[in-house]
Amino acid sequence: MKPLVMVTGGTGYIGSHTAVELIQEGFEVVIVDNLSNSKHEVLNGIEAITGVMPHFENFDLCDLKRLRKCSEKYPRLEAIVHFAALKAVGESVDIPLDYYHNNFESLINLLRIMGDYSIPNMVFSSSCTVYGQPDHLPVTENSPVKKASSPYGNTKRVSEEIIQDAIRANSTIRAISLRYFNPIGAHPSANIGELPLGVPLNLVPYLTQTVIGKREELRVFGNDYNTPDGTGIRDYIYVVDLARAHVIALKRLLESKNKKPYEVFNLGTGKGYSVMEIINTFEKATGEKVKFKIYPRRPGDIDAVYADTTLANKELGWKAETSLEQTLFTAWNWEKALNNKK
Ligand code: NAD
Ligand code: UD1
Repeated sequence: MKPLVMVTGGTGYIGSHTAVELIQEGFEVVIVDNLSNSKHEVLNGIEAITGVMPHFENFDLCDLKRLRKCSEKYPRLEAIVHFAALKAVGESVDIPLDYYHNNFESLINLLRIMGDYSIPNMVFSSSCTVYGQPDHLPVTENSPVKKASSPYGNTKRVSEEIIQDAIRANSTIRAISLRYFNPIGAHPSANIGELPLGVPLNLVPYLTQTVIGKREELRVFGNDYNTPDGTGIRDYIYVVDLARAHVIALKRLLESKNKKPYEVFNLGTGKGYSVMEIINTFEKATGEKVKFKIYPRRPGDIDAVYADTTLANKELGWKAETSLEQTLFTAWNWEKALNNKK
């Protein structure tokens, strides 16, 4: 019998790519999502790639009664991969209580059912935002966790603490937190990808929308940062490489490969690229021209951040494999596929 796994937020960007990898690795997947930031059609994309339609439960994880019912419906659940969260940094400043309510309540409810229904394992989506502007680069897992610069960032920092407290109080549960750097790109089939609702806030979707003609020009936020070309540096990780890391982390928990009840891993490539390097690499990968203009810095942005991935390389045996050029090519194919659907 295939191991049964709940993927919360599984119709979202990273969750859908992870659901695909899990199915392809022989897992049976139950997606729970309230579709607050994703669409039901994503399930068709997952089926088109894998040949399997995952189980789907449409409800809000803040509803504990509904979550209990779901756990009773799937008594074989062995693990939860928890992606579901609100994630827009700027929005979290405007509506902090909604962010705290959604991200904490859903996590607490999941930790409750893990204890009550003997679901021992969780893989949790965390973020490099917990490091703030690091004092040293690259950032290791031992770099200090800093005061969050937004309510969203704070939900990630505190969620990691909530998970550790829950584990201290209940020795039957174990978890791995994965701190993502900047996930980009789409599945090579272009059946699934990032679906930003409204104007994208992140660099790559804004860039592809500019090239396809939906936006007038890419605004490069600041060219006076303390970096070689003055534009901000980030560690852009291909979403499929990121998804693969979840499968490995999950297997590590299920196979009890490690005695530690809680672990944290950085997931990045280990290399930082500036905004100008992204533009140039995109042009090289696709043969398209990117129209851009230098704008003032975006408030809250930092000069540079990129990961030290030694721990994930060594302990998980995982490494980001896809080049930036290939990754940006998938992002462009996805933008074109989206445009053709309309
Ligand atoms: P996404 O918005 O595409 O996916 C999240 C999904 O969760 C959505 O489908 C949404 O409908 C669902 N959801 C939200 N709240 C819910 C609730 N209460 N009940 C049920 N479903 C709910 O986001 P993503 O980019 O795929 O991010 C996944 C996770 O990774 C999030 O926890 C995010 O904070 C984290 N993360 C993302 C990035 C990034 O750059 N995308 C970086 C670091 C960390
Ligand atoms: C942001 C969040 C981070 C979150 C991540 C993924 C902040 C401070 N951080 O990371 O917590 O995990 O998104 O959702 O908001 N840029 C432009 N023009 C644009 C958009 C971005 O020049 O239109 C630049 C930015 O200044 C930055 C780089 O591109 O230097 C990457 O930006 P973005 O994709 O928004 O990610 P982060 O800000 O790193």
